[in-house]
Amino acid sequence: KNIFQEQIKGQFNQLFNKNTPKAFNSMLIKGGTIVNADHKFQGDVLIENGKIQQVFLPEQKIHTQRNFNKIIDASGKLVMPGGIDPHCHLEFSFMDTTTVDDFDIGTRAAVAGGTTTFIDFIIPGSNPLKYAYNDWRTRADKKVHCDYSLHCAINDWNEDISKEMEEIVKLGVTSFKLYTAYKGTYFFQNDERMLQIFQRCKELGAVIMVHAENGELIEYNQERLIKQGVTGPEGHPLSRSDEIEAEATHRVITIANTINVPLYVVHVMKRAAADEIVRAKRKGFVVFAEALAAGLGVDGRHYWDEDWDTAAKFVMSPAIDDDPKTKEYEMRLLATHDLDTTATDNCAFSKAQKRLGHDCFDKIPNGCNGIEDRMSVIWTNGVGKGVITPSDFVRVTSANTAKIFNMYPRKGIIQAGSDADLIIFDTEATKTISAKTHHHAGDHTIFEGVKVKGLTQTTISGGRIVYDEGVVKSTPGSGKYISRLPYGYAYEKIPALDAQRRIKETPVDRSGIKPSSKSLEE
Ligand code: URP
Ligand code: ZN
Ligand code: ZN
Repeated sequence: KNIFQEQIKGQFNQLFNKNTPKAFNSMLIKGGTIVNADHKFQGDVLIENGKIQQVFLPEQKIHTQRNFNKIIDASGKLVMPGGIDPHCHLEFSFMDTTTVDDFDIGTRAAVAGGTTTFIDFIIPGSNPLKYAYNDWRTRADKKVHCDYSLHCAINDWNEDISKEMEEIVKLGVTSFKLYTAYKGTYFFQNDERMLQIFQRCKELGAVIMVHAENGELIEYNQERLIKQGVTGPEGHPLSRSDEIEAEATHRVITIANTINVPLYVVHVMKRAAADEIVRAKRKGFVVFAEALAAGLGVDGRHYWDEDWDTAAKFVMSPAIDDDPKTKEYEMRLLATHDLDTTATDNCAFSKAQKRLGHDCFDKIPNGCNGIEDRMSVIWTNGVGKGVITPSDFVRVTSANTAKIFNMYPRKGIIQAGSDADLIIFDTEATKTISAKTHHHAGDHTIFEGVKVKGLTQTTISGGRIVYDEGVVKSTPGSGKYISRLPYGYAYEKIPALDAQRRIKETPVDRSGIKPSSKSLEE
């Protein structure tokens, strides 16, 4: 009932709030370079009623005789699919506090940076999954400025949860997340449970996602470091070595491969963990992996900053690698399709909230901002440095996420029939990122002082201009929930792998063979 009321409220906002930008009946984006994940070309985009109606090549003059409600001149600019951020925590209660970016402020920041869809995580804790789903929908529907979808964490395991998983798959939640980190909390899952939950995901056609770090070893290291007197933010990366992430990554890949279920490893931060992904892909396993704007844009040397607040703002898990070369290493893996997507894990806390861990690093709320700056940070460090192409940029900022989480081609491509979620991107525009000017709620940013070249000039979500030239123009509740079907792109290879395994695992028929006299003597 609540969801229904909130949806009506969202639609009412859209229809009657005079500040809400209307979806123009017909809008033409003219003269830009359209960039999709496979190629770029000159063309015009016709949008009608929230959808891309047609893409015209320059030689197709038909549309010049028509009238449009709105024409945007995109000459000299790129026209790309709006960003899709597959990993966010808005309005999330975690480590005794709640993130500062709620669904309203967080999605203002999203559209200001060119992101038009994000996927948040339902964290049910001890609640039934359907109840938690309703809670997330009730809070998000009335606030979001762009479209969103939902993954769901599994924080416990029993028959009821197994049944509830099916219920929420029917509501469009077709990806489930487990944590091998955060020992001593309901997030942490052991191998036996993972095996069972992975099996259940396969029965339901859902993608399994894992936060992979060895929680047992982190706990041991934390206790050891604290005894040694290491209580500042530097204790955070020191307690989470490269091997701690790599071991858990290897382990969850092995479990997923044993079940033969598609696995998506969230926030790969260390090179050793990334190498585990590469190895698994070379073996033909169905493994997808995500890099973060944090790991591609900054490095973890800040944990040793003398100023406590500065060091603490980078505390997130896994820790950002303190080796400055990792940024480029991961960008190269995005170029070679070894890493698939880029996300933010936007989970932002204020300075005051970070100070909850002033006495000891293990109490600093884990998480950083990113949803506003992901697109520009990746363009600057990827395309700007010649490591990835503009089409690669689209592949890793929207298309691959849309495919893996089964929203493609509704999202992640500019073509007739797709949602009119796109950005007009100015590759020459520059800015210096600062908490003084960002749209996030936080009073600090991990990207403070970072210079980016390549900015979103205009963001269009469902045919509505939601951001233009520095101004957010949408209203809360104007985005939509995106329900996703199971057994999507991520499952394409699974039947073939199952079949290969069945052939390999056929028992040898020895019924007609008599034991030789020699073996009988033996
Ligand atoms: O530090 C992080 N990543 N905070 C958010 C919770 C999680 O681990 O996903
Ligand atoms: Zn995580
Ligand atoms: Zn997360």
